[in-house]
Parts: sequence; structure tokens; C-alpha cells
Amino acid sequence: MKRILVTGAAGFIGSHVAEVLLERGDEVVGLDEVNDYYPSAYKRANLALLGLHPRFSFVEGDICDRQLVTELFTTRRFTHLAHLAARAGVRPSIADPFLYQRANCDGTLSLLSACVGAGLENVVIASSSSVYGNSRAIPFREDDSATDRPISPYAATKKATEVMAHTFHHLHGLSVTVIRPFTVYGPRGRPDMAPWLFVESALSGRPIRKFGNGTTRRDYTFIGDFARGFVNAIDRPLGYEIVNLGNSATVSLNEALDVVRDVTGKELVIEQAPPQPGDVEITNADISKARRLLDYDPATSFREGMARFCDWYRRSRA
Ligand SMILES: NC(=O)c1ccc[n+]([C@@H]2O[C@H](COP(=O)([O-])OP(=O)(O)OC[C@H]3O[C@@H](n4cnc5c(N)ncnc54)[C@H](O)[C@@H]3O)[C@@H](O)[C@H]2O)c1
Repeated sequence: MKRILVTGAAGFIGSHVAEVLLERGDEVVGLDEVNDYYPSAYKRANLALLGLHPRFSFVEGDICDRQLVTELFTTRRFTHLAHLAARAGVRPSIADPFLYQRANCDGTLSLLSACVGAGLENVVIASSSSVYGNSRAIPFREDDSATDRPISPYAATKKATEVMAHTFHHLHGLSVTVIRPFTVYGPRGRPDMAPWLFVESALSGRPIRKFGNGTTRRDYTFIGDFARGFVNAIDRPLGYEIVNLGNSATVSLNEALDVVRDVTGKELVIEQAPPQPGDVEITNADISKARRLLDYDPATSFREGMARFCDWYRRSRA
């Protein structure tokens, strides 16, 4: 049995990763500050679900609190760290880069420091597909040098954490796998992300803001596929590796809106808006490395995943 610290466990991806680990018999300690980036009630609901498992315990706190983090590593004797806590979102990072620098860079450094000498078997850290910026080398491969030129503060903080993790691997022999997630969506998803915003607006008859002409493309990854890949990464110490977890099929904004219309059964009211600064034209993962190293095999199409998300949304949120 593994004893795993899952940071960001109250959030969308962290709660799913924790759930997969608990269901297969691991012990999970969640660490999350339960901030109000989006309604904290959603995070409390995720925690209530995890709390049904007897092997789950929760610590409410800030990953930047070095005393708290050091104490946790000393007293709980973790075998693994799954680090998913972060300030996420490209657009708000432009408004407040300092907040992102603190949570994402200082917070990751605080955790990496606590790992030194703690005897962990493996550390898995969530970076982001945004590090690829407007790379022209499509699909995005992990060795793309465009990641040296991020185009938003959020992406810059994620690139910085990848680099710092390498330093800790080099200096202290920590095994670290960095995961680059590509637009993860599904039940318990993030209310600031397009899939949620589209379904919410469609079901309530409110206008959907469409940024640009609808040709931008996203590699949408269903949470069930993603969480399995992430857990495989926890199970397989690889030294130091960066691995994309996407779906690898891209969906244009116009196609995504058609799917939203079909799964909700509602005619959409579209409100046209200009392209957003910091947004990228396309995200598209090359997942051959994930297939090879992590037996990753995303099987859920966008249409199927959105139907499942819409079902969940109707049952729990609408
Ligand atoms: N969802 C996606 O499509 C996506 C894409 C790329 C990268 N990621 C990354 O995956 C990870 C999880 O993302 P998510 O979509 O679940 O986001 P989320 O916002 O739902 O979850 C993040 C959690 O981290 C917590 N947190 C933030 N700062 C903290 C701090 N200083 N101390 C303790 N807890 C803190 C938040 O309260 C939240 O519950 C993040 O690192 C994010 O950057 C997500």
C-alpha cells in the first residue's frame, strides 16, 4: 500500500486522482487551502466525497507554508507525492502574476524541499500544456524548445516548476515525472473552463461568449482517461521525465459548440467576442511518450465525454 500526499485534492483533477488511488487501496492525505478561485462549495463537495473513504485524511493549508509542509513530511512518512495544487487559468494570471508566482513556484519549491531526505519513491507534478505557447511544431512534443518562451504568467510559472523539479532530481536524486495536462474536463470539472461555461450557459439559456472566429483548436482530455494516466505515472518512477497527457485529437471551438448543442439539446445563443490575449491558437499533444512509458490510452471522444459531463451537471449542479 502506498501512502500518497495529494496536493490540490479538493480541486477537480486532484479529487479524481485521489479517488482512483483510494479505490484501489492506497492511503491518501489531501492538502489544499480550499481557496475561492471558484466557489469553495464545489471543493467542499469533492472533499465530502473523498471523506467517505476510510483511508482518506485531509489537511487544510497552504503549500507555501514551509513549516506545515515539513511537519507533514516528517510525521506522515509519505511514499509518494502527487502535486496538483496550483493557481490555474491563463487569463487571471495576466491580471495577478504575483499570486501565480507564489502558489505555483514558491509552493512547488516548498514541497520539493520537504521531499529531500524523506525517502519518497516517486514525485509526480502537474505542469500544463500552456508551456507550448504558440508553438508551430504540431503535435506538441515534450522536447519542443518553444516551451522556453511561454506567453502567459501562468505558463511561465509552470515552466519554472518543471525546471526546478529537474534541479532537485539532479541534486538530490528525487524521481520526478512532470505531467503536461491538455484541457482536462468532465464531472466535477472547473467552472472557469470552457466545457463547464458552455454547458451552464446552454442549459440556462444564457449567451455563450465565443472568443475569435471559432477556428482555435483544443485537445480536450476526459478526466477518467487523464486520472488513469496520472496514477500510472505515480506507479512508475522514471528518474526525470516530462510527459504529455492529452487526448491527441483536436476539436475546434465551432465543433465544440455543435457538441454542446447536441448533448444539451438546446439552441445556443452566441455572443461574439474578440480573441483573448494570452490564448493560444491550438493545443495538440503528441502522446507517444505517454503511451510508451505509462501505457496511457485515452479512449473517450469529446462527444462521449461531454455527454457524461452534461449528465453529471444536470444531476448535481443545474
Ligand atoms: N484542468 C486542466 O485542464 C489543467 C490543464 C493544465 C494543467 N492543469 C494543472 O493541473 C492541476 C490541477 O488543476 P485543476 O484543474 O484540478 O484545478 P483546481 O483549481 O480545481 O485545483 C487546484 C487546487 O489547488 C488548490 N490550491 C491552489 N493554491 C494552493 C496553495 N497555495 N496551497 C494549497 N492548495 C492550493 C486549490 O484550492 C484547488 O483546490 C493544476 O496544477 C493545474 O495547473 C490543469
